[in-house]
Amino acid sequence: RAEAQEGGSVFSFPEVTAGVDADHHVAEGYDAQVLIRWGDPVVSGAPEFDPNNQTADAQAGQFGYNNDYVGYIPLDGSDEHGLLVVNHEYTNPHLMFPGLVQVVDGAAVQGDLSEEQVNIEIAAHGGSIIEIEKVDGVWRRVADSQYNRRITGTTETLITGPAAGHDRLKTSVDETGTKALGTLNNCAGGVTPWGTYLMAEENFHGYFSGELPADHAEAENYARLGAPGGWYQWHNFHDRFDVSKEPNEMNRFGYIVEVDPMDPNSVPKKRTAMGRFKHEGAESIVAPNGQVVLYSGDDERFDYVYKFVTAGTYNADDRAANMDLLDEGTLYVARFDEDGSMEWMPLVHGEGPLTAENGFESQADIVIETRRAADLLGATKMDRPEDIQPNATNGKVYVMLTNNSRRTEENVNAANPRAANAFGHIIEIAEADGDFAATSGTWEILLKCGDPSIAEVGATFSTDTTENGWFGMPDNAAVDSDGRLWVSTDGNNPTDTGRTDGLWAVDTEGAARGTSRLFYRVPVGAEMCGPVFTDDGESLFLAIQHPGDGGEDWEGHARPSFYEDPSTRWPDFRDDMPVRPAVVVVTKQGGGKIAV
Ligand code: FEO
Ligand code: CA
Ligand code: CA
Ligand code: CA
Repeated sequence: RAEAQEGGSVFSFPEVTAGVDADHHVAEGYDAQVLIRWGDPVVSGAPEFDPNNQTADAQAGQFGYNNDYVGYIPLDGSDEHGLLVVNHEYTNPHLMFPGLVQVVDGAAVQGDLSEEQVNIEIAAHGGSIIEIEKVDGVWRRVADSQYNRRITGTTETLITGPAAGHDRLKTSVDETGTKALGTLNNCAGGVTPWGTYLMAEENFHGYFSGELPADHAEAENYARLGAPGGWYQWHNFHDRFDVSKEPNEMNRFGYIVEVDPMDPNSVPKKRTAMGRFKHEGAESIVAPNGQVVLYSGDDERFDYVYKFVTAGTYNADDRAANMDLLDEGTLYVARFDEDGSMEWMPLVHGEGPLTAENGFESQADIVIETRRAADLLGATKMDRPEDIQPNATNGKVYVMLTNNSRRTEENVNAANPRAANAFGHIIEIAEADGDFAATSGTWEILLKCGDPSIAEVGATFSTDTTENGWFGMPDNAAVDSDGRLWVSTDGNNPTDTGRTDGLWAVDTEGAARGTSRLFYRVPVGAEMCGPVFTDDGESLFLAIQHPGDGGEDWEGHARPSFYEDPSTRWPDFRDDMPVRPAVVVVTKQGGGKIAV
């Protein structure tokens, strides 16, 4: 166990100085090694990255763009040899394609994407599975591993659970309603106790454009999702992304997708029983009676916190017996009451208002329109729920709430107490009797985030927290094997505070509760994703997402052409290489547990 330090903190490391520049920074005494970058070959035979000759075929075998969730799945129980599973959430074409951004009359203008560029974007989504090993203290990729795999926006998936085969999921190319092509906007995720990889489809609505036919039956469903989002140009070349032509295609996205990484030919499964919304992640834990509990946030202003409890129980001795556990169970949505209690309300067809009178003919309708069902139950409208991390050591659950610019004094509640919540907060749930499968519990706010030196912000970091140690916009979280909480951020620079996103160590126990310290920070423009530790606590994997994005360098100079004149060329720092998202592994110099 990590021993408490002076002041009661369970963390020991020299804090990084907050700031912003072209490089990343880790605490003194640690190494941060780039393990894999956008474009690096993943599958056997994939070509080396050539930024000036990109093709969709090449990208489909190479590491995708914007790494987000990272999971480590040990091989033979090893902390030094395993499979790294990595989500590729989205693409930044202005940073990917040379010449796409032109300066016209002094303004940066992004041109239209070619069909090949669109197909590169589709191939850069999904996920990667790579075999890695630690040799003489240094991690490396195992080239030509049988496990190395890319899952993309066109990989065939199987839709399972209550919505599988439903008419609302049938399209002109799939009359079975069970075979969706690809998985999109995989944000955070999870690894199950049986070693499968969960990808959470988050902002799937953004890939769709066009208008639904007049009075279409899906109008209310899509409106509740803010869909179609029209963020991409994919509909120019693929009818399935045009809702006027293929109105049901969008009902095939927004799920938790389960992948068996041990079988490189396995078909990813979209587990509809876990609901359809903008799933942020899917971290899991086994309840005392063996049921598996998976937590998932719906990342939108005023949306909800969910958990799914499997009907069956986890079998530690028979991996195969667990492979369809996620198809049957109960999906719950949270109501956080003003007195610090809470209730998990089941989203079950026929119960309460979830009946045909309200448009729910069966459980399929409930999972397809999870948000509308949760609205009817009176769930608590939250400040953008992101990653939710259960902690087996202290029995608590940590909910990252990133911010909510639209929260007003009129609609604050105890669990979301700040109007115009710019910096977000973290809620700590204690499930009843320490049972993660419980349907009630209590909650309190662990931290209101933001700069504690500005009284109006109302941040609640402990007074031991230095000027480097505070953060805003909690997004992803990890709990290490000593039960210590680590929090990473998305957009920790809302008021040009000269800081970047990073990874913070946050004390949750005793006198040090609420103390936070900066361990690692990203290069300019990047977001901090995917923190995960090996069980021995000696390796920490981090995903550096969209470095160089944002259009300015750290001195505020506008960057009209992101590709040719970027604010950083991290991690290569070569004139012939663009800035690239990458996964980094942190180890202690000379070996040993991190932050001890
Ligand atoms: Fe993909 Fe909610 O962050
Ligand atoms: Ca996120
Ligand atoms: Ca997490
Ligand atoms: Ca994010």
